[in-house]
Amino acid sequence: MKQTTEPKVMRDPIHGYIHVDEQVIWDCINAKEMQRLRRIHQLGGDFQIYHTAEHSRFSHSLGVYEIVRRMVYEIYELREALSEEEKVTVMLAGLLHDIGHGPFSHAFEAISVYPHEEYTKKIILGNSEIHRILEDVDAHLPEAVAAVIGYCHPNDLLNQIVSGQLDADRMDYLLRDAYFTGTSYGNFDLERIIRTVRIVDQKLCVKESGIHSVEDYIMARYHMYWQVYLHPVARSYEGLLAMLFQRMKDLYQEDQSSLKEVEMFHPFLSQRGADEAALFALDEAAAFYGVSLLREHADGVLRDLARRVLDRDLFEYATVIDNFQVDKLRSRVQACGFHPHYYVFCDKASQTPYSPYQRDQSGHNIWILCEDGTVKELSEVSDIVHAVCHEKLKEDRKVYFPKEIIL
Ligand code: NI
Repeated sequence: MKQTTEPKVMRDPIHGYIHVDEQVIWDCINAKEMQRLRRIHQLGGDFQIYHTAEHSRFSHSLGVYEIVRRMVYEIYELREALSEEEKVTVMLAGLLHDIGHGPFSHAFEAISVYPHEEYTKKIILGNSEIHRILEDVDAHLPEAVAAVIGYCHPNDLLNQIVSGQLDADRMDYLLRDAYFTGTSYGNFDLERIIRTVRIVDQKLCVKESGIHSVEDYIMARYHMYWQVYLHPVARSYEGLLAMLFQRMKDLYQEDQSSLKEVEMFHPFLSQRGADEAALFALDEAAAFYGVSLLREHADGVLRDLARRVLDRDLFEYATVIDNFQVDKLRSRVQACGFHPHYYVFCDKASQTPYSPYQRDQSGHNIWILCEDGTVKELSEVSDIVHAVCHEKLKEDRKVYFPKEIIL
């Protein structure tokens, strides 16, 4: 594998430094599809509630790469078990796993025909700079990298490193999102986890002596979900965007010419679905420009929703008690002159910190290598984890509506 002429290092607030030694990784970082991720927020709507959560998918992707790099070189058993090609393949998979994300993450996926995983595959296997860089190294490299991201590489260790239960993706985003939101819940001891990972029967395990750092990681996930990822204000912003996209889609289907000023959205509004080139063109800068043009649109609903998005005039929310309450809200919204289809939405959030079902797939469990040499699933060994994953599923149903109706 060709090395860079000199070791490349980039400063990073989570990992200290990101180290790059292979030319193919450096070239992928500099490819246009990767650079586009600088213009996509890592956390869809969370910068509306945590004002410093402005970090990008680019920095998260570098962070995942760095954790993978450390795992394959610093975990002795992994370093021995994997070939040079496998190491580079899994590091590339970490770097490229989010390459297919559109603007505003999940809000946008509500109107996109294809999910981001599908675009990731298309970019790695299709007509892209990334594909050409990988192919130049080895004709099979694009398929191998896509297989790891799709959790179907024949060497299951590689799949577990990028997207198991204790994987580089989750470990980076928890630490990074905690740092950039200014919350402390996402912290856990990454160093200790890396130091205690072992391999037994092609499964990544953590030594029993490292169990406290794994418990911390599970609790970090739990708190980050409720405090950050499912925060009702972030959901309100994302819901507003989804309503705006829905209105655009409905108008476009009636009359395409009614949206001629926002061509960047057209491929996503048609039933056919957009290709990789259209996704590449639509970063958040382009999307925000489109939304700012809609502020002057002839359609009153579009105009108002665009203004709300840009001025952060978010919807109010209430916890759902029953359907009767939601119906009453809908009538009230309509009586106040709003179209209930675009001005009321419900959202159900639920999250378990860790659920060890699907016991056949090693990637869905966290395995502990006990002192007596046996391997057990985490909740069998940890009382804390046992307690949280056998607790009733925590559910939160909210309804969102314009605050004008309660004045
Ligand atoms: Ni990710």
